Amino acid sequence: LGHNLHHYAEVASTQEVVHQLAKQGKPHGTVVIADQQVQGKGRMSRNWDSPKGKGIWMSILLRPELLPYQAPQLTLLTATVLAEVIADQSSITPYIKWPNDLLVHHKKVSGILTEMQAEQDQIQYVVLGIGINVNQDTADIPEGLQHKATSLRIESQQEWSIQQTIQRILRQFERTYDQFIQNGFSEVKPKWEEYGYKIGEKVTISTMKKSWQATLVGIEPDGALLARDEMGNVEKLYSAEIHWGEG
Ligand code: BTN
Repeated sequence: LGHNLHHYAEVASTQEVVHQLAKQGKPHGTVVIADQQVQGKGRMSRNWDSPKGKGIWMSILLRPELLPYQAPQLTLLTATVLAEVIADQSSITPYIKWPNDLLVHHKKVSGILTEMQAEQDQIQYVVLGIGINVNQDTADIPEGLQHKATSLRIESQQEWSIQQTIQRILRQFERTYDQFIQNGFSEVKPKWEEYGYKIGEKVTISTMKKSWQATLVGIEPDGALLARDEMGNVEKLYSAEIHWGEG
């Protein structure tokens, strides 16, 4: 991984660059990094603020032999890798908000965008986008986001090496990914649980259709979230937005 690394000063979105490279037949493990994205993409068609030199804006091309339903497990795996690397390098303890946000002190430092190209129930390729707010000061975070976004620097009060952090992520990703391919998600699950939701936490869940209060039961072997509603019914979720507490 990272042997085929493309570094750009500025792109619209590293996701788009990797989609193009994938269509040109570039191999598994191709990595695209940019100092700045002018049209960084978040989940649910949101924008992802990607100021120059302040963060890690990176997309990885994967050509996994997995079934499409397993692609979300790659997101959970990646969140685990990011949490481990950050915890190793500082005294801050990141928290994974299922499925893909990394929080520190309840504010977001990182997001993952997994885009899959599949045909006839076979994955053609996956573009795994990783965005980490690294060296922003409070003043670099857009005002409207300051209540919910932060950076590693703000939380750890130390300057981070972007270069080194990228290297560590790629190394740890490769290791974890290989284990996952060999042994399945069961290898990743306990690590996810170290940084992820704890059993018994109270949350509000919203999907396109409804919003309800629930207590978290855990994650399933396949990465789905299990939550119990106030009536005691346990539901298995593959996609939803989760918020802490009631409301
Ligand atoms: C989210 O939490 O909504 C996901 C954010 C993903 C952002 C990263 S930055 C690198 C890659 N390129 C993009 O345009 N988006 C992802």
